[in-house]
Amino acid sequence: MLKFSSPVAGCMRWGKWGANYSTAAYRKMIETCLDHGITAFDHADIYGDYTTEEEFGNALKEAPALRSQMQLITKCGIQMLTENRPHHQIKSYNTSAKHIIQSTERSLKNFGTDYLDVLFIHRPDPLLNPIEVAEAITHLKEQGKIKHFGVSNFLPHQTEVLRKYILIEFNQIEISIIHLTAFIDGTLDNCLQHNIVPMAWSPMGGGMFTDESHHRFRSITAAATELAEKYNTGIDQILVTWLLFHPSGIIPVVGSTKLDRLLQAKEANHIHLSREDWFKLWIASTGEDVA
Ligand SMILES: NC(=O)c1ccc[n+]([C@@H]2O[C@H](COP(=O)([O-])OP(=O)(O)OC[C@H]3O[C@@H](n4cnc5c(N)ncnc54)[C@H](OP(=O)(O)O)[C@@H]3O)[C@@H](O)[C@H]2O)c1
Repeated sequence: MLKFSSPVAGCMRWGKWGANYSTAAYRKMIETCLDHGITAFDHADIYGDYTTEEEFGNALKEAPALRSQMQLITKCGIQMLTENRPHHQIKSYNTSAKHIIQSTERSLKNFGTDYLDVLFIHRPDPLLNPIEVAEAITHLKEQGKIKHFGVSNFLPHQTEVLRKYILIEFNQIEISIIHLTAFIDGTLDNCLQHNIVPMAWSPMGGGMFTDESHHRFRSITAAATELAEKYNTGIDQILVTWLLFHPSGIIPVVGSTKLDRLLQAKEANHIHLSREDWFKLWIASTGEDVA
């Protein structure tokens, strides 16, 4: 089983969909993350309208020694409507073997690497054929092009049908103090049951908890502030450590474009919340006491 640093650095906002980093800025982000023990980087083929992988790869091409120090994660299966893919007529999903293999090969080229540490199917596809997906993944593994396989945004019944044919090691899902669904819909139970490592995307809720116009977010911020004072740390660290508390071993994929926020998220590994303090945040988010 592959072990990741916590947090994983989410790169969705590093390029065109956010910070628009130059190659030098990508390289600085990568090198500083590695220096501080953040060694895994999360991508998808579609990020930046299919441009972010290649921009990240340009930084790796400048400093090829960085590749062996990191784990590269990417995803496939969404076909976006963008001028970079003029042949796409509508936004759709594609989990055909042909698409999975072609997308992986394109990602390898973009990064300038000969293997991916993990490939994810990005979204459950209503047309997903589990036997075909398993064959494509097995083929890519046999060729050494991917080391590990995971799914993203899959519900338990969707992982179950695929798990019949191929080992699923990760499920990347939205989990944060403002998005609690995975705790109650069986997704994290399914992870626990089958040793699937959950990765939390948008673990800081995309920063939305800072929006003071919502009563729920004000209540979360008030509870997190109180706990930050108690544990002598910051709100961000509290929100990350709150995820780490879960027995399934959630790995947060932090999407900040600010190095200091990424490094703060790493500090969360050293905080040990009490069970009652975990519930203080849960109650602040749900707005009601547990039954
Ligand atoms: N599998 C999927 O379907 C899926 C979907 C979405 C994302 N992802 C992955 O998950 C990663 C993380 O997603 P995300 O970027 O939504 O995660 P996030 O870490 O919850 O949110 C990051 C965003 O929130 C802002 N933010 C964080 N803390 C803040 C604070 N204390 N105050 C104000 N703003 C704050 C950041 O701004 P700054 O940049 O200014 O810090 C950034 O815009 C992505 O990079 C991607 O790799 C996967």
